[in-house]
Formats: sequence, C-alpha cells, structure tokens
Amino acid sequence: MKDGNFLKANNARSLWHPMTSPADSLANAPTIVTGARGVRISDIDGHEVVDGVGGLWNVNLGYSCQPVKDAIAGQLEALPYYSTFRGTSNDKVIELAEELRDFFAPDGLTRAFFTSGGSDSVETALRLARQYHKIRGQAGRTKFLSLKKGYHGTHFGGASVNGNANFRTAYEPLLAGCHHIAAPYTYRNPFNESDPAKLAQLILQQLEDEIAFQSADTIAAFIMEPILGAGGVIPPHESFMPGVEAICRKHGILLISDEVITAFGRTGAWSGSRLWGVKPDFMCTAKAITNGYFPFGALMIAEGVAEVFEKDESGKAAIGHGYTYSGHPVGAAAALACLAETKRLDVRVNAAARGAQLWAGINALKDKHSVIGDVRGGHGLMLAIELVADRATKKPADKPVPGKVQKTAYEAGAMVRVSGPNIILSPPLVLTEADAQVILDALDSGFRAL
Ligand SMILES: Cc1ncc(COP(=O)(O)O)c(C=O)c1O
Repeated sequence: MKDGNFLKANNARSLWHPMTSPADSLANAPTIVTGARGVRISDIDGHEVVDGVGGLWNVNLGYSCQPVKDAIAGQLEALPYYSTFRGTSNDKVIELAEELRDFFAPDGLTRAFFTSGGSDSVETALRLARQYHKIRGQAGRTKFLSLKKGYHGTHFGGASVNGNANFRTAYEPLLAGCHHIAAPYTYRNPFNESDPAKLAQLILQQLEDEIAFQSADTIAAFIMEPILGAGGVIPPHESFMPGVEAICRKHGILLISDEVITAFGRTGAWSGSRLWGVKPDFMCTAKAITNGYFPFGALMIAEGVAEVFEKDESGKAAIGHGYTYSGHPVGAAAALACLAETKRLDVRVNAAARGAQLWAGINALKDKHSVIGDVRGGHGLMLAIELVADRATKKPADKPVPGKVQKTAYEAGAMVRVSGPNIILSPPLVLTEADAQVILDALDSGFRAL
C-alpha cells in the first residue's frame, strides 16, 4: 500500500478523471476518499463528513448496507459470472426480473433488459424504441425528442439527446435526428415565464409545434427525466410530464422516462413516473438498483411494447443488442438484496421527510445569503442551489465561487457537489434529521466564508 503523500502527489499522473480536464486534475488535488460508514465518508487525512452527494446519486442506503455486501460476497462464491446471451441465464437474474416486475407493475412496466449502468440503459431504450416502430411497419420513425438541460449519459445516443453543450460540443457530430425543446426551468427560460404551470403549458405547445414541424411519423420517442437531475435539479410543474405523455400518445411517439436517478425512492415516490402519475413505455434505471456497490442497470419495458416484440413472427424483433455484463449474476444478487432493503426500510418516506427538511433549510439560507439566486427541490432528496453574482440581473456567480462554498462546507462536515453555478444535494435516503442539519450548517459556513 502506497503512503498518503505518494497518493496525493500521483493522483493525476497516470489517471484521467471523468467530467474534468486532465490539466484541472493535475492542478487541483482531489479529495481522496478511503473509507465510509453509514452516510459518512472519510478521506486519506482521516477527515469524516456527511455525504451530501450520496456517492453520485446512487448510494441510497448508505455505505454500511450489510445485506447487499453479503449478497455480493455470496454470489462471488456461488457463480461470479455467466452470460445471459441467447441460450443461457442464471438463477439470480430470473428472480430479479420477477421482483422488478412486481415493483414497477404500478408504472405498467413488466419486462426487464439488464445493463451495466445508466448510459447503457438509455442506449438500450433508444435502440429498442426504433426497433419497436420497425416491427410495426413504421420504419420512418427514427428521430428522438428531448429536453434542453436533460442528462442521459455519455454514449453517442445518450449524448445526442442530452441537453447540455458541455457533454456535446467536443464530441460532435452526434446522432442525426435528435431535437430539443426548452427545459421547464422557471429561473431562466426563453419565454421569461416564472410561473411553473404556465411555463409547462408553453413548453407543451413547443412540443406540439416541434412534432408538427418534424412530422410525427418520423419520431420514435421522447426521452425525459421526471425531475431533471444533473442539469441542475429542475422539477417540472405537476402538469408537465402528464402533458408530455398525452401528446406522445396522440402522435404514436414512445415515452422514455430516464429514471437513472429517480427510480427507487429518491423523489419520495418509488419512481418519478409514479410521482407524476405517468405510465412510460420504457424506464431507464441504474445507480441505486445496487446501492452503487456494483455497476448494473435495468431498462424496464411496458406491457404493450413487450407484446409487440413477443408476438412478432417476422423476425424483426430479434434483439441485436446487449452487453457482456447484461444480467451479471453478482449485480443481480446485489440488486435483489438492495430491493429487499429498499422496501423493508420504505426509504421513500424518509426521502420525502428529509427532503422537506433540506428544502426548508436551503430556502432559509436563501434569506440569509444573497449569493443564492434560486433554490430547487421540494420532491425528496434531490435539491440544487444556484449561485449568482447579482440577484437582480441573475448574472451567474464567478466560476470559483461554488468551489469555495464546497471547500468550506467540506471542512465544516459535509460533502456537497458543484455542477456549473449549482450546488447539488443528493444524499443517501437513510439520512437522519441530525445528518441533514449537518449538511445545512456546513452550507451555511460555506456561504458565510465567501
Ligand atoms: C438521468 C441520467 N441518465 C443517465 C445517466 C448515465 O448513467 P451512468 O453514469 O451510470 O452511465 C445518468 C448519470 O448520472 C443520469 O443522471
């Protein structure tokens, strides 16, 4: 084992980090996390903090979830790997598909296609959406619509429906036929509309307009997050996603709900679709499905879509898509244990309660600190604080400002995440009231230190 000084000096020498430039990694030493228990992480210097980030929106049950650890260890002994490609399966993945079918039955989703993570789940949804239309004799339906500010992972398909230039520009040209409409972002939008219900209606009109412009019979699917996450936690008005669903149905367009963050309780409901009363055709899941302990995901598929594939006799429904790790037995075992714990603890209830506490707390911080331009949340444990240089003009805060808040908050006892001008909170769903207060106090220290 190398000592702490070696690790600090060499982090970026041979390692490139996701989502930052290699030069940035060389210039700025990272926090080297070496341990975790409960909802706390500890670094190489022995400093322990409440993890306000929940890993990366995924460690919903915290770091000490023994049943998931035991399931992984046990499965490594019993069957560490076997493929689920044609002709073979494993016991755990069959059991998991049945459990997920029950869990997502209220969303109308009854089949699972397993993946290695969120980007894979999105890619699978986009591909199967096109194939669905081909099976039904509508091969012209190939385009995808999505929301600006949406995040759908980093494969070329997902990046093409992403709505943030940071994940697109360097990798263009992206997939042809992907078109974006405005995000339901009341703080900044092209309509200058701050009323959430009115903004929702304006964007729905924009969606109708875009469909008419593209022609419905060229569009395969619309993909959206029920609450936009990585784009800065943007919860739409409650009328928005049902409105999108109705428009999609009217035009024969499939609805893909990207719930890589929102599935399994984070919003205070078991899924974002259920929060809004929507039944999507596909639901992308990953992250919390294994509590972040094993890379794994599942694309959930609606009964109606499944029937089209299962009843096909033309051969067009053969799925020419899959991953070596689709249905990995260790991931499936982890997911089974995780789902059982998630249900036993009924974590959505605590997510809603602690979410309300943090929501009230960061709104109170807004009254104290003028650098806070907007606070977003109000639905479980996904919240954002947008920093500005000037509230009147909404000019974004200077680039180093969110990082300064983060650094002081970390020293004061909580890890929070910076994404552009936003500070994002997505803690484990098993957070206690006292833990949530630690996060709020640490943020207060961060703002006071500016
Ligand atoms: C909504 C959404 N979709 C897709 C992804 C991509 O997931 P992954 O990073 O596991 O590939 C993410 C990751 O944060 C996400 O938030």
